[in-house]
Amino acid sequence: MTFPVSRPRRLRRTEVLRNFVRETRLTPEGFIYPLFVCAGEGVRKPIGSMPGVFNLSIDETVKECREVKSLGIPAVILFGLPEKKDEVATGAWADDGIVQKATRAIKAAVPGLMVIGDVCLCEYMSHGHCGIVLPAANPGGPKTVVTTGSAAAEAEKFAAEAFEIANDPTLDILAKTAVSQARAGMDIIAPSDMMDGRVGAIRTALDANGFANIPILSYAAKFASGFYGPFREAADSAPQFGDRRSYQMDPANFREAMKEMELDLAEGADMLMVKPALPYLDVIHAAYERFEVPIAAYQVSGEFAMIEAAAKNGWIDRDRVMLESLTSIQRAGASIILTYFAKDVAKILA
Ligand code: PBG
Repeated sequence: MTFPVSRPRRLRRTEVLRNFVRETRLTPEGFIYPLFVCAGEGVRKPIGSMPGVFNLSIDETVKECREVKSLGIPAVILFGLPEKKDEVATGAWADDGIVQKATRAIKAAVPGLMVIGDVCLCEYMSHGHCGIVLPAANPGGPKTVVTTGSAAAEAEKFAAEAFEIANDPTLDILAKTAVSQARAGMDIIAPSDMMDGRVGAIRTALDANGFANIPILSYAAKFASGFYGPFREAADSAPQFGDRRSYQMDPANFREAMKEMELDLAEGADMLMVKPALPYLDVIHAAYERFEVPIAAYQVSGEFAMIEAAAKNGWIDRDRVMLESLTSIQRAGASIILTYFAKDVAKILA
């Protein structure tokens, strides 16, 4: 049937009708609110590039969690700022690590709020990489071809490629980290490091330590993205040399993202995450169609910062764009969304 019989505008005429036929209803029930926990007491240190986001000491984190729970948000994900960093990420797996201590405090003070552990080592490594750094296995191997850029930039690339982020030795540390987080009371384990085989290693270690019931939310398709910039300020986790392109995915690769997700499922992932969110809606949608598990998406720090910055300039309507971006992510297929907007959206929807 075509015009004039067919008139799509019939269903857009009134607010009640529009609400009635809405296909995607944004609710905070699938939200996860990220928190950055630091040492000290009464600390609430603003992050310059992320308005409204703070480094919080444990007491302040607990306060924040009370508010999060009261707004109907079911979960927080914790990132830790350790007092000391080293070459084996001790702060990530120590039983008295910052995240472990925060988890115990939250679980005691705010029962019913789920605490999710981001399992990664970059915040705890002196060099800021997500794994153990070793001299490259084949330093005589192929190097970056000099095409563009200054000689200094090329030299820097060359120096970075003299090292590798060693996959297999990192797995043990990740597994240890997951077990120590579970022991502290984490409800869900979320590995974000992008080492091969880490979901399997973590599943095996959790099961062997009596945590067979703790689900894994895998950052399965995590892209090497420029959108993580503000996070690295918030979590003090920028790599000191090189970048993350030897372990995080190439933004150009869709089919490889499907493969990453398939592998993580085969290794025992219970839920799959795509990250970032808005620039990767195609990946989210395909994941939703292909895999019969809950799909999560991380609206990352840069996505958040862009909206905040444009709004501050008066160039966009902040709340409207915030809701539209999250609705799009959910419409693409993500029923779980990690977002720095979680509290603001929950307040609007309440
Ligand atoms: C840790 C990690 C990162 C983010 C979440 N976990 C940063 C990175 O990979 O450099 C980014 C989240 C954000 O930008 O909001 N590896």
